[in-house]
Amino acid sequence: MTAIHPVYPLIDPMPKAHADAPIGIFDSGIGGLSVAQEIARHLPKERIVYYADTAHVPYGPRKDQEIRELTAHAIEWLYRKGCKVAVVACNTASAFSLDYLRDYYGENFPIIGLVPALKPAVLQTKSKTVAVLATPATFRGQLIKDVIQRFAIPANVQVIPVTCLDLVPFVESGAQMSEACLATLKAILQPVVDQGADYLVLGCTHYPFLKSAIQSIFGQKLTLIDSGLAVARQTARILIKNQLLFEQEQNNGLRIECYVSGNNAEHLKTVLQYLIQEDLTWDIRNIGVE
Ligand code: DGL
Repeated sequence: MTAIHPVYPLIDPMPKAHADAPIGIFDSGIGGLSVAQEIARHLPKERIVYYADTAHVPYGPRKDQEIRELTAHAIEWLYRKGCKVAVVACNTASAFSLDYLRDYYGENFPIIGLVPALKPAVLQTKSKTVAVLATPATFRGQLIKDVIQRFAIPANVQVIPVTCLDLVPFVESGAQMSEACLATLKAILQPVVDQGADYLVLGCTHYPFLKSAIQSIFGQKLTLIDSGLAVARQTARILIKNQLLFEQEQNNGLRIECYVSGNNAEHLKTVLQYLIQEDLTWDIRNIGVE
């Protein structure tokens, strides 16, 4: 793997994280908020800092090394913000960066990543055919190849890969129920329904925000699975293992602090009103590309 030179040198010696520091969550855009919501609900006492690289979204069409560099930069931002762990809430970024980041930060800054939730789909499919909807970059990565090898092949389950570069921009612009988005979903998913897929793995963290749109077209024909809750549980396990769980009661409810590298915070405020569930509060700030 080509070396990535961080913008700043590591803080030396690396300080040990504290339980009262926030959990850092990153995605190329607002998709990772589908994961952040699950983490907030699962770990309601924790403070959550969310970083969206909206200056560079989408990552899906980018080259492997570029994705790795953008991800390293974003995780560096969370680290310098004083986060105690980082969740790479992006399948595309995880596909190329987890080994590098874990090597680079070592034990004092745990990195939690994502891989499409193929295992539960393989365990539950009746038709022995599941579709995975993810970015082309995610399918180029080793993580998805490993889960197919480990779970689908031994169970004799056929995995149909589906990619589409238009979906992330639909979610980022708040157009997930638009005619154009519904027509795109129908065009890419009808063939997998026709091939007998009964489960659809949402292998990109933007796609849980398309659940209503997909269900409005396919109803019960496709059962949708995402990674959100599994990642929230994994985050809890990592915090416990590293003695970083925050135990004190918080009275200000579930809240996510969002920072975006693009200058579209105002627009995203409108989009997020429809995506973030009502029991969560959030604020969002432009920070520019630092
Ligand atoms: N949310 C990201 C993922 O999980 C992807 C999007 C993108 O920037 O293309 O893969």
